[in-house]
Amino acid sequence: MTGFLPALALPVLQTLPPEFAHAIALRALRLGLAGRDASPDDPRLAQTLFGRHFPNPIGLAAGFDKNACAIRPLMALGFGFVEVGTITPRAQPGNPRPRLFRLAPDRALINRLGFPGEGLARILPRIAAAQARPLPLGANIGLNKEGAVAERDYRALALALAPHVDYLTLNVSSPNTPGLRDLQASERLAAILAALAEIGSATPILVKTAPDLGPAAFDAVVETALAGGARGMIIANTTIARPAALRSPLAREAGGLSGPMLFDRAKMMLARAARLSGGRLVLIGCGGIETGADALAMVRAGAHLVQLYTAFVYQGAALIPRIRHELGAALSAGGFARLEAARGLDTASYAENAWNI
Ligand SMILES: Cc1cc2nc3c(=O)[nH]c(=O)nc-3n(C[C@H](O)[C@H](O)[C@H](O)COP(=O)(O)O)c2cc1C
Repeated sequence: MTGFLPALALPVLQTLPPEFAHAIALRALRLGLAGRDASPDDPRLAQTLFGRHFPNPIGLAAGFDKNACAIRPLMALGFGFVEVGTITPRAQPGNPRPRLFRLAPDRALINRLGFPGEGLARILPRIAAAQARPLPLGANIGLNKEGAVAERDYRALALALAPHVDYLTLNVSSPNTPGLRDLQASERLAAILAALAEIGSATPILVKTAPDLGPAAFDAVVETALAGGARGMIIANTTIARPAALRSPLAREAGGLSGPMLFDRAKMMLARAARLSGGRLVLIGCGGIETGADALAMVRAGAHLVQLYTAFVYQGAALIPRIRHELGAALSAGGFARLEAARGLDTASYAENAWNI
């Protein structure tokens, strides 16, 4: 990793209010101050999915670059793919501040940002301009707080963005937009997927789910996604649950919790989706991934790819080459010639587990 920001600025950023620190980090990325990862890719980690080359399975999850203003600098940090958004049809301010909280003792975050963003018209040209990019790019789409009509708005977003990205993520799982998560119900989800049908035949559509669904509701999402032509799922978004083990007093703040406490739930849900979909969906595990061992555990549960956000906030850009290195070492230790050889080895054992919500 070259560049001064990773080594020097992280401890300083962590003393600043979290949303301000995030704005500075994004600015530094845009100015080229965040460094780049020059370490070679481990060919064992590469995969071709959706006809695209993913040099490694570690992706940046949605929400970090909501306005797609740092696509290339983020792609230089060593990720295997990057997802921007959530993009809404129109610009909106999001919820009142403060709305992002660091739960440092728990290595967790709570956010109730509520999709602040510049809206499709401002963001689209940036995405279109990133046509010649080194990595697959996903765009995550969501709804405005006011005046949304789900089928119409998701379709307009998908139509505009599809020609410019490698996949689209249907976000029906953010806890901070009233009513959004209700769109996971089978009838609503099926109607939205039907509105996207012809777009999805050219550009893969992935459904991102909440971790707060019970097993039966989650199974219905997987089945609806399959029946509706989705090509994959991202499991999972932030949780509205507050595990008793949280130590930070900020745990009482409202919003979506991210970080390590999501990991086990996300892994179990992913295994369930892997069993139900039997290879028909590309599965992206997301929630609390901090190490190469975590990434491998998700792959063993059935994931093709993983994404992270919170660990990147706490550990900075040096995390990405480290996690790739750890993943390579874990493959060697397990005797796997390639990442794919580990995929799904634990699906059956986790998929039997139900969970309480
Ligand atoms: C500050 C913040 C903002 C987020 N914004 C979005 C978003 O706009 N869209 C989305 O689909 N997920 C969003 N997420 C959820 C992440 O993409 C991810 O699903 C979740 O944080 C779990 O991964 P992690 O534990 O590695 O952070 C956000 C997460 C955080 C912490």
